[in-house]
Amino acid sequence: MSLTAPALAIASPVRHSQPALCVAPATRPVADFVNRIINGDCIQVIATMPDGCVDLVVTDPPYVARYRDRSDRTVVNDNTTSWLKPAFQQIARALKNNRFCVSFYGWHKADAFLAAWRAAGLRPRAHFVWIKRYASGTKLVEYCHEQAYLLCKGEPPKPSLILRDVLEWRYTGNRYHPTEKPLMALRPLITAYSNPGDVILDPFAGSGATAVAAKQLRRHYIAIELDGRHCATAEERLQRTETGHQA
Ligand SMILES: C[S@@+](CC[C@H](N)C(=O)[O-])C[C@H]1O[C@@H](n2cnc3c(N)ncnc32)[C@H](O)[C@@H]1O
Repeated sequence: MSLTAPALAIASPVRHSQPALCVAPATRPVADFVNRIINGDCIQVIATMPDGCVDLVVTDPPYVARYRDRSDRTVVNDNTTSWLKPAFQQIARALKNNRFCVSFYGWHKADAFLAAWRAAGLRPRAHFVWIKRYASGTKLVEYCHEQAYLLCKGEPPKPSLILRDVLEWRYTGNRYHPTEKPLMALRPLITAYSNPGDVILDPFAGSGATAVAAKQLRRHYIAIELDGRHCATAEERLQRTETGHQA
């Protein structure tokens, strides 16, 4: 579906001596977003969601790496950090207190990602590394890992499943998306940091990998993606997805 943000209420003109008037966009009930792939900019879409309405965020934002694969496929917003702070401000607002956010990130822009997370009140509590059996690139070294931070809003209780912070990675073939994440890497995160019936948000959904893993594990999802072609792929994947998978 395509979600059109409700119109902003326009404030009446103010004199320049007065402080600027901030008009927040009207919010819609979380039920309007649940189990949907929403085609839009996550900053604007989440701005229309209520405070503290999701139980877990698992996301894979652009790495700001100017990625281009062998078939010349690129990733929207992979050439700028301008979206980073506003996006994580909104993500943190939509996350319930005392909950987790797992975010992949580009290691060479770690400073920008950490600054955006901290500014949004998301505290780094652990770091995951996935070992690849192949190199995704070779320059000064062979690049053979992926990485993500486990971030906290507030003080979440200790998870019932304690994961190792070094995990195995299986190549997807990038059939659905140029930087596709394997479901086998996402399922343990969702299992450890949420419960069946919870709402999982992925604001940079791509081909819907987080949403597919969430549905398999009997969670609800909210998936936001700017590129309409990836939304169509995600819709197709989700239609084929059965619930009841083991982590
Ligand atoms: C690294 S990819 C995610 C791939 C996904 N994990 C998968 O397995 O298919 C990041 C995605 O974020 C999307 N994106 C970039 N800026 C966005 C924004 N402001 N709002 C929503 N989506 C955005 C890109 O189009 C891209 O598909």
